[in-house]
Amino acid sequence: MPLTKLLCLALATHACAQSINGLGVSGGNGSRGGIGSGDRPVRHAQAFITDGLIPSTPNSTRQLAEGPAPVTSRSNASAGCGRRVVIVDSSPAGRRQEMVGFGHAWTDSTVDVFNTLEPDVLDQVMQDLFGQDGNNMGFMRHTIGSSDLSGRQYSYDDNGPGFNLGEPDPMLTNFSLGPDGTAMAKMIARMGQYKGDVFLFGSPWSYPGWMKNNDLLIAPVIQKDGGQYPLLNNSLNIKYIPQAVEYFTKYIDAFRDLGVTVNGLTLENEPLNYQGKSCGYPCMYLDAADEAAVINQGLGAALKERGILFMAYDHNTDQPVYPYRVLQGISGSGVAQAVAWHCYQGPAPNYTVLNDISRLYPGTLQFMSECSTYLPAAGSVNFGVAQNFIPPVQHGASGASMWVMGTDPDFGPHSPYGGCAGCLGSIIVNSSTTYTKTHDYYMIGQFSRFVRRGGVNYQVLQGNEGNALSSNQLYIMAVQNPDRSWAVIFMNNLQSDQEVVLSFSAEHGQFWEGIVPKMTVTTWLIPSQQILSQTNGTQAASMAPPYPFGNGSMIHPTGSGIVTGTGFSACSVTSTSSSSSSSSGSETVLPVPNTSHTIATAGGA
Ligand SMILES: *[C@@H]1O[C@H](CO)[C@@H](O)[C@H](O)[C@H]1NC(C)=O
Ligand SMILES: *[C@@H]1O[C@H](CO)[C@@H](O)[C@H](O)[C@H]1NC(C)=O
Ligand SMILES: *[C@@H]1O[C@H](CO)[C@@H](O)[C@H](O)[C@H]1NC(C)=O
Ligand SMILES: *[C@@H]1O[C@H](CO)[C@@H](O)[C@H](O)[C@H]1NC(C)=O
Ligand SMILES: *[C@@H]1O[C@H](CO)[C@@H](O)[C@H](O)[C@H]1NC(C)=O
Ligand SMILES: *[C@@H]1O[C@H](CO)[C@@H](O)[C@H](O)[C@H]1NC(C)=O
Ligand SMILES: *[C@@H]1O[C@H](CO)[C@@H](O)[C@H](O)[C@H]1NC(C)=O
Ligand SMILES: *[C@@H]1O[C@H](CO)[C@@H](O)[C@H](O)[C@H]1NC(C)=O
Ligand SMILES: *[C@@H]1O[C@H](CO)[C@@H](O)[C@H](O)[C@H]1NC(C)=O
Ligand SMILES: *[C@@H]1O[C@H](CO)[C@@H](O)[C@H](O)[C@H]1NC(C)=O
Repeated sequence: MPLTKLLCLALATHACAQSINGLGVSGGNGSRGGIGSGDRPVRHAQAFITDGLIPSTPNSTRQLAEGPAPVTSRSNASAGCGRRVVIVDSSPAGRRQEMVGFGHAWTDSTVDVFNTLEPDVLDQVMQDLFGQDGNNMGFMRHTIGSSDLSGRQYSYDDNGPGFNLGEPDPMLTNFSLGPDGTAMAKMIARMGQYKGDVFLFGSPWSYPGWMKNNDLLIAPVIQKDGGQYPLLNNSLNIKYIPQAVEYFTKYIDAFRDLGVTVNGLTLENEPLNYQGKSCGYPCMYLDAADEAAVINQGLGAALKERGILFMAYDHNTDQPVYPYRVLQGISGSGVAQAVAWHCYQGPAPNYTVLNDISRLYPGTLQFMSECSTYLPAAGSVNFGVAQNFIPPVQHGASGASMWVMGTDPDFGPHSPYGGCAGCLGSIIVNSSTTYTKTHDYYMIGQFSRFVRRGGVNYQVLQGNEGNALSSNQLYIMAVQNPDRSWAVIFMNNLQSDQEVVLSFSAEHGQFWEGIVPKMTVTTWLIPSQQILSQTNGTQAASMAPPYPFGNGSMIHPTGSGIVTGTGFSACSVTSTSSSSSSSSGSETVLPVPNTSHTIATAGGA
């Protein structure tokens, strides 16, 4: 048993918390950090809200709208009356993994549609996705070669008339990013002009056809779903492992030559998803032992030399033994390792398998690397993003990324032979001058705008309700950002507003009260103790204004029944919105740092 593991068992769990120290950064001259970083600290308690309801008419719901901020109270006397007590263990024992961020995947569809935009419109899209006043996404995937969200099929070394049609190219003399790979690298380099601290990882959907077992006579037969499938063209031919190592190395260096630093790599998207005889889109079976062999036979050393994180598996939570086998297989390689998980296990992903990895392989980073909203309908309620961002983080993931980032209005371009004809991105490009930010855009923003790289996830001891199989859920995650402020993200998929009394175990005698509206994702920003102690009562005139998102997105439907500007009085019935309501608990209500909802009656106490 390795020493770290012994330590982990002997000490409290937090000794096993995963650190992101040493992870690479994909850059450019774009800005770094954002709200919650050291140079942009949270100065005011604030709340941002996105409704679960997908609007039928534009701007008719809250989308990253600023709502009433939580207020402080010196006692939890108001807890009770069915109010929800939320306790974050902010002591060292509650400390969990460090965070990298949240984001999306660059696909050929995304690059294709972005390249149709007028330059100033593309600039605006990039600001919306990566700017500090946009979604500020920091955890990005990209496809290596074609995927199901590609209009045509190719690898970086087809060496023949088309994908799966080439002759062996043992020296990889015909390796080339090609027009699609080059366009993608250039677009990703452009991203670096908007955000300079992204973690970027690549995933192939298939290796070049000639590296795969193409001969039906020698192809192994594999059991799946009770049937037998020959792995025609669809599994790695292990005699080409040296070429596979070279293929990845050449890709990493070719991207570098176009100004893109790759920080992480999965060796195969969904290695168990080989779809029998023929794929409607590029895919490949990669056995866990073969994945380990590619690392052990040279790729591990190449990744180590370039400071790149190897991310095992990249598939659903229902086959956790796959990453165990990979991690066992590469134990001598010295490569920095992680496990990447997808969300598509039916009927619901089981993210507790992440805890098992943390226990068995301490220090292994984990991520939720793919999930997608499928054919979301206007007028329906959708929590897909939060349901697959919060639980993985609660179980140890340092970040999460949704699938396709941008499409045309028909969810494409995608593979003509299949692939996802209903996967929604954050951006729909309607024309060379118009685009639409989707519901997912705002939902992802509830996370990516407020959780900084290097923030630390802490355990929420109390307040969560429901599970993946129920339709009534309240999920909570709490991250302390580098400025020591807190981003507390609530997914309220309950039919009722939740009156929340929140406390941090290491901050005695201080409570935060506010309403998390029903059927929303709501993010509370809570300033650090240092800022709070500097700003009590007297408001510094020079204080920076609250974090702005532009006026347009701040839509507040009326009648939300939210108490503004006052803490809850003990067990009173929730009053309707009124900033002039007298506060019976005014003695216990601390002045709150200046927000647009500053306590009217108790202010300046
Ligand atoms: C970043 O670099 C790009 C191209 O290299 C340039 O166009 C842009 O002005 C630079 N931005 C800043 C803020 O320096
Ligand atoms: C209020 O806080 C005290 C500790 O400060 C705790 O013992 C008590 O359980 C809390 N009450 C509720 C209802 O959470
Ligand atoms: C492979 O590269 C050689 C030159 O290096 C070229 O002549 C040949 O056409 C290429 N073959 C394919 C299929 O791209
Ligand atoms: C499999 O490969 C052979 C040649 O290597 C090719 O003719 C055939 O079309 C491929 N089949 C699929 C389903 O890709
Ligand atoms: C989830 O996985 C854990 C192992 O981590 C297992 O014990 C549990 O039974 C699984 N839950 C479901 C619902 O399959
Ligand atoms: C863009 O297309 C989407 C999908 O068809 C549609 O919902 C949206 O209203 C369109 N936006 C504009 C500005 O045309
Ligand atoms: C904040 O409040 C504390 C105690 O109430 C007081 O000692 C301190 O001077 C106050 N600070 C400011 C900046 O007003
Ligand atoms: C809060 O700050 C704004 C400017 O940022 C100012 O206009 C407003 O008067 C302040 N409110 C209070 C109660 O200090
Ligand atoms: C926001 O919009 C409202 C109404 O259009 C306007 O009165 C207000 O001045 C705007 N605020 C800012 C900060 O632009
Ligand atoms: C919705 O709000 C955005 C942001 O302010 C604005 O650009 C857009 O025109 C609005 N759309 C409609 C249909 O009002």
